[in-house]
Amino acid sequence: MDHGLPPRARIAGLGHHLPPRVVTNDDLAQLMDTSDEWIRERTGIRERRFVDDGTSCTDLAEAASRKALENAGWEPDDVEFILFATLSPDLFFPGNGARLQHQLGLGPIGALDLRTQCTGFVYALSVADALIRAGQYRRILVVGAEVQSRGLRMDDDGRDTAVLFGDGAGAACVEASDDERGFLAHSLHSDGANALDLCVRKPGSLQVPFVSAEDIAAGDTAPHMNGREVFRNAVRRFPEAIQEVLTATGTPASELKLLVPHQANARITEAVRRRMELPEEKVASNIERYGNTTAASIPIALSEAVEEGRVERGDLVCLAAFGAGFTWGATLLRY
Ligand code: ACO
Repeated sequence: MDHGLPPRARIAGLGHHLPPRVVTNDDLAQLMDTSDEWIRERTGIRERRFVDDGTSCTDLAEAASRKALENAGWEPDDVEFILFATLSPDLFFPGNGARLQHQLGLGPIGALDLRTQCTGFVYALSVADALIRAGQYRRILVVGAEVQSRGLRMDDDGRDTAVLFGDGAGAACVEASDDERGFLAHSLHSDGANALDLCVRKPGSLQVPFVSAEDIAAGDTAPHMNGREVFRNAVRRFPEAIQEVLTATGTPASELKLLVPHQANARITEAVRRRMELPEEKVASNIERYGNTTAASIPIALSEAVEEGRVERGDLVCLAAFGAGFTWGATLLRY
């Protein structure tokens, strides 16, 4: 029976934006006891981008969004709803979605922030797909953006995480699909038992006040990571989530044109690639240039892959993520 609802949603356009300031491993070695060799061997990162003073997470998102709108052939007023994934919002509250609505000069449309960290963009695409298939909206702007640099501890005590993260933004225009292109399956998961294995403890509403001078001195406003636990879980959960969407659609991994994993760490990506038995050219990796940009890493990598011609209309693409929460998930789509 025809309910008049779109059968699925698809990506109509993509855009990404990186702040221009390049920070190399040698630059970080001036600030803490680390080396280019250690960082490259353990993470695959050579350099990352950091914002300059005065640039906000919403500013990065706005730049990426404007490129995505242009790429999709949308006018800003075409956007009916915003989904904004970030762990580094401009303010503790309100979220960045409303700020992006204002900066883009849009009418008073709805805007929803998602707090699922590295998995944020995958969660957001799934929500966009559901809202469009339910008939609530036809055109949704989905954004992942981060300013990590201002939250990192740039000294010896913060070196295990400070070398990993970078700033950036990516955006996708998602619209109702009238052909076979679009999202085919999603898998979304979380396990809060590991919440403290990857987190920023303060500010938080567990204490009065939300953050104190002692917390800052103790490094509790910077990321805390149990690296071994993250690695152990990531190499298990990435393949599980990918396999779930492949199985749900009866798709062999060999049919994928590209796997776009969250750019957590080159060693994690390599372990996942081997587990999925995919050749190197079928797995997107740009962590060498941008570091780990958390919710922004998948849209940046997908947008670059499309720009480079590695993904064309109709190609089968899998997006997969694992991160703080722990949260993990995957999306299978025909681009
Ligand atoms: N430079 C130099 N030395 C460092 C640095 C650094 N930047 N950071 C930590 N070290 C030191 C540690 O202090 C430790 O020294 P010690 O042995 O004297 O105590 C030593 O390096 C530990 O190194 P390894 O022996 O390599 O330790 P391990 O094998 O546990 O690896 C690592 C640590 C690289 C963090 C690993 O657990 C890992 O890759 N985990 C995944 C973490 C990750 O990639 N997270 C991404 C962000 S989260 C996400 O996006 C999902």
